[in-house]
Amino acid sequence: MNTTAQSEQLSVEHLLGIKELTAADIELIFRTADGFKEVLNRPIKKVPSLRDLTIANLFFESSTRTRVSFELAQKRLSADVVNFSSSGSSVSKGETLVDTVNNILAMKVDMVVMRHPDPGAAVFLSRHVDARIVNAGDGTHEHPTQALLDAYSIREKLGKVKGVKVLIVGDILHSRVALSNIFCLQKLGAEVMLCGPQTLMPRYIDTLGVRVEPDLDKALKWCDVANMLRIQLERQGGDGVANFPSLREYAMRYGLDLERYKRSRDAAGGKEIVIMHPGPINRGVEVTSQVADHANSIILDQVENGVAIRMAVLYLLAARIPRTAV
Ligand code: CP
Repeated sequence: MNTTAQSEQLSVEHLLGIKELTAADIELIFRTADGFKEVLNRPIKKVPSLRDLTIANLFFESSTRTRVSFELAQKRLSADVVNFSSSGSSVSKGETLVDTVNNILAMKVDMVVMRHPDPGAAVFLSRHVDARIVNAGDGTHEHPTQALLDAYSIREKLGKVKGVKVLIVGDILHSRVALSNIFCLQKLGAEVMLCGPQTLMPRYIDTLGVRVEPDLDKALKWCDVANMLRIQLERQGGDGVANFPSLREYAMRYGLDLERYKRSRDAAGGKEIVIMHPGPINRGVEVTSQVADHANSIILDQVENGVAIRMAVLYLLAARIPRTAV
């Protein structure tokens, strides 16, 4: 692995959100991830960098990609890993978050990766326990490693992020992915536009410095990249479609099928839009299968890049922990 980035440091001790990172931090994470991507393409996909560290993955909310990706990243770095999920734990007996984490830390854990349904949970934890905290998604607030892997995947596909026109479509209101992506893309000099039902736009939208276009066809004509967000039915209460009439109507107005994709390509003079989705996909709602599996879809590249990005984040945060040589 290229070690040129090793003497540089992140400006933060925890990864709580993209908002706290500088553009230089993000570039450092990307350069470090480049080195780890090379490691991941070797026959033996492992380095000893974190063999002296123990990392706990605390998931208080469902996850497939983020959880597996963090665990793989930790194992590729030779860390010891312990996994905790709230179901079946003493959380159900009334134990507080700080007590739960302090009990795990008493078993000599150095870092905590946490997903939690409450916005601000990672910040709260970082102020109350003695360990490095990585936010793996806190409610509707931030999902920093998702935004990093998204921007990294744009950089990989288009060769740059600066100046790229990125459209984020759908459930902005409930999306931690949207907020982290907006912060990350803006720090790297991309242009960001949002599109979705008015009922799924947050009230603070005017403060974000992004353009909003309610007409998906016009928005698609404008963009280079379309990031199609998942409709977060579990955060909408009731029957899951409290913010729009039906999934069918949502798909008609804000979903991307092959016909709409081709129409926008023709309207934009043949420009092929890069298609992204953070997963999990509701096929036939945000995108049809023909679009999800299209040659210009980088959805699985996003997942692949997640491991290198998370290795980079863990490696750079670990570099800030005082450690004796092993
Ligand atoms: N993108 C994402 O966070 O997926 P999971 O919920 O499966 O981790």
